[in-house]
Amino acid sequence: MKVIDILRKNDSNINEILKYILDIDIFKNFDYTLNNKEKNKFLYLKKKYDNSIPIEYIVKKAYFDKYTFFVNKNVLIPRIETSDILAYLSSEKYKNILDLATGSGAVGISIKKINPKIKVTLSDISLKALHVADINRNDLDIDIIHSDLIANIENILSFDCIFANLPYIKDMDSLPSSVKDYEPKIALFGGINGVEIILRLINELEKIKWRGDLYLELDPAEIKYIKKEKEIIKDRFNKNRFIKIKFN
Ligand SMILES: C[S@@+](CC[C@H](N)C(=O)[O-])C[C@H]1O[C@@H](n2cnc3c(N)ncnc32)[C@H](O)[C@@H]1O
Repeated sequence: MKVIDILRKNDSNINEILKYILDIDIFKNFDYTLNNKEKNKFLYLKKKYDNSIPIEYIVKKAYFDKYTFFVNKNVLIPRIETSDILAYLSSEKYKNILDLATGSGAVGISIKKINPKIKVTLSDISLKALHVADINRNDLDIDIIHSDLIANIENILSFDCIFANLPYIKDMDSLPSSVKDYEPKIALFGGINGVEIILRLINELEKIKWRGDLYLELDPAEIKYIKKEKEIIKDRFNKNRFIKIKFN
């Protein structure tokens, strides 16, 4: 089996698998013949891909904005539309941002890369997700806190902005199997109406009289459940994907 035989399939995901296995530049080594070990690994991973396992989990990486993040089955694969909020969050007006429910850390870490002056903290209820975020943080000056919503975030009042892409799926059966069967349930299921955890966060922030801008990602059909005054922000697909709530 040669590199060129695989490239001829003209499937960019299959090419990603090949790149993941081989140490060479596949586009400069068309004539390279895979040894037995490489061939078996390729066939094994291709089978996973044929069985609808998301390519990001197979090659352990996901692209987000201009960056690449390590991912595994313990974190949601960051979605392209989520990156549309980065322009708002990396604004000069914020000094201290909490990326709550950070998963892989993609949002918070991208903010720090875009605007290193912003202090960034990542939090999540899942320790396994925070392990992934820690790998992605690398040597960046970013704090990580293990917390159910804001329960363990002692300096919560010091944040002038919080972004939260909390789970917001209400009907797991409506999801394609590549999502339902492989992405972590804790990252997807949002309880009653999909907004149970989101409403709990709003309630907790009100209780402690937090002041700042809260940005939430949610299902456009769920915005009606958020009774507070809000600004709606569209994603690149023209969907009402985010809301901004001013707490003051
Ligand atoms: C939809 S994923 C978002 C991941 C990442 N922020 C992104 O946009 O790609 C939701 C995340 O919320 C976390 N989560 C679920 N319930 C939570 C809670 N009560 N408190 C904090 N994080 C929670 C999950 O572990 C998961 O990482």
